[in-house]
Amino acid sequence: MARGKLILIEGLDRTGKSTQAAKLVESLSNQARLVKFPERSTPIGKLINQYLKESETHLADQAIHLLFSANRWEVAETIKATLLEGRDVVMDRYVYSGIAYSAAKAVPGMDVQWCAQPEKGLLKPDLTFFLTNSESELRKGFGDERYESSGFQTKVRHEFETIFKNYESQDYKNNHIVFLDTTGKSIEQVHTSVGSAVEEYIQKNSDVEEFMYF
Ligand code: TMP
Ligand code: MG
Repeated sequence: MARGKLILIEGLDRTGKSTQAAKLVESLSNQARLVKFPERSTPIGKLINQYLKESETHLADQAIHLLFSANRWEVAETIKATLLEGRDVVMDRYVYSGIAYSAAKAVPGMDVQWCAQPEKGLLKPDLTFFLTNSESELRKGFGDERYESSGFQTKVRHEFETIFKNYESQDYKNNHIVFLDTTGKSIEQVHTSVGSAVEEYIQKNSDVEEFMYF
């Protein structure tokens, strides 16, 4: 039996990631599994949730970065097990969010390389979507969690762009990263684009069995 595919939906806040990840899981046939990061229900996830929700919860920037990464390691084994059962896994955020949000803080020494280090050895997605929306930073009604302000989002977008244009240029050339601008598009239109890119990827790569790692 062929292993499932690991598909990632990445992007800034309010670009429609969670909606698209849920719709993609529904449309995949083989009992696909949705994994959202941060996974807030685990012991580390609860700490992360508290940090995001309560502005008085202080954690060093390095510490919260490592917790976000540890949260991925908490779930890593079960993701691999699901893929080996032949089921696809769709992730809502992953390593790239981890690097982009932390690097955007511009803390001395915490550059992209530092941020990427604890992610080494995690499974690399087979296919990554990067959702942008030119209005997402301007829209009113950001929630009141940490990081939800247009000023910080602009910095995060810059970090994402740097990561995808340079750091991952190899995959970009192989078209394993799909850039999707959702500005002015309906949920269904974006879903159709995501769905056809996934279908095309699966058709062309049905025989890929080995895993890739960061
Ligand atoms: P969420 O809104 O998708 O639940 O994510 C919560 C916030 O956490 C969001 O602002 C992005 C941020 N984040 C990180 O800073 N590092 C990470 O590794 C992840 C997965 C999310
Ligand atoms: Mg959010």
